[in-house]
Amino acid sequence: MSTAPHIESTSGNDDLDGGSPEPDRSLQASQLRSDVIEADLKVNPGKYRILTGDRPTGKLHIGHYFGSISNRVRLQNLGVESMLVIADYQVIYDRDGVGNLQENVLSGVADYLASGIDPSRTTIFTHSSIPALNQLLLPFLSLVTESELHRNPTVKDELEHTQGRAMSGLMLTFPVHQAADILFCKANLVPVGKDQLPHIEVTRLIARRFDERYGRADPAHPVFPAPDALLSAAPLILGLDGTKMSKSRHNTIEISMSADETAKLIKKAKTDADRHITYDPQNRPEVSNLVLLAALARGEEPEAVAEQIGDGGGGGLKKTCTEAVNELFAPIRARRAELAGDEGYLRQVLREGNERANEVADATLHDVRTAMSMIY
Ligand code: TRP
Repeated sequence: MSTAPHIESTSGNDDLDGGSPEPDRSLQASQLRSDVIEADLKVNPGKYRILTGDRPTGKLHIGHYFGSISNRVRLQNLGVESMLVIADYQVIYDRDGVGNLQENVLSGVADYLASGIDPSRTTIFTHSSIPALNQLLLPFLSLVTESELHRNPTVKDELEHTQGRAMSGLMLTFPVHQAADILFCKANLVPVGKDQLPHIEVTRLIARRFDERYGRADPAHPVFPAPDALLSAAPLILGLDGTKMSKSRHNTIEISMSADETAKLIKKAKTDADRHITYDPQNRPEVSNLVLLAALARGEEPEAVAEQIGDGGGGGLKKTCTEAVNELFAPIRARRAELAGDEGYLRQVLREGNERANEVADATLHDVRTAMSMIY
């Protein structure tokens, strides 16, 4: 991995005591940078190392598939070195227990592999198995102020979803933990949606501040590269009731569901009274969402799918959508069923991923302790 293409970034005020909460890049600047990298990825995939992750709080669903998993597979297949964290320590920042953690983690591994993640090219690992990654949290926490953490938009957003539950120290600091996920492997690219940009900014801030405080011995080689966001082009899919797709709202289609379960769920989805199907997310969110789902599954434009359904009404729309989703997922689900029956193999994939991630994390922690003069 060498350096990513250089583009001037607009640097904000990084002074720790100045307490600048402002991200150093506007959305526009991040988008511009992301577009340049997207083009470069096809030419120079070897320049990049990406990190992505999921919280194993439930089963992965088609929102994960279209929003991130399919993009991970695409990047992996371009030849980009890829790390995938199953963020088990993140499960507990907003709840009292770990839930069905074992089941969720193994099910997630089966979903990844069935979807095309190749464990020989993508390192799949669990947070809690990588001690050196977690130890990075200590020096990193010294680089951010309490008020910066409180002002983080993603933390605020997460807190709002916990319905009055008190914020745990882990939730307040999870962006820093996430920075450790990214920086432990010196990833220089993180595929995210726009709403996740604040995380990348925190990570960039930590990388820079670490270097300012401890890395000056060799300015040409900062300990941590400042990662870039690769902004996702995937449109947001809503749940089958037209609200945000989320397991707790029971409006998702899980990757592991059968074709029949999928058909039943889509049958119950909300539509409207107008029999003429159009793609109009503003005015017809529920109908448009089903059109979008069918379009994504078929790899076509939503407008074209809507036109084909024409005056078919809600029934025609649901039929088209069900067929498209089930057709796309049929081979994935068949592979998944096989994998799910071989728990030993799934655990072996994790063991090997964890072993690789530990090697990387140990080397990075050594760099960190060297920079901090903490080798004895
Ligand atoms: N918080 C992410 C999610 O809920 C998962 C995650 C953990 C992650 N660590 C990360 C994403 C680091 C990007 C970078 O999906």
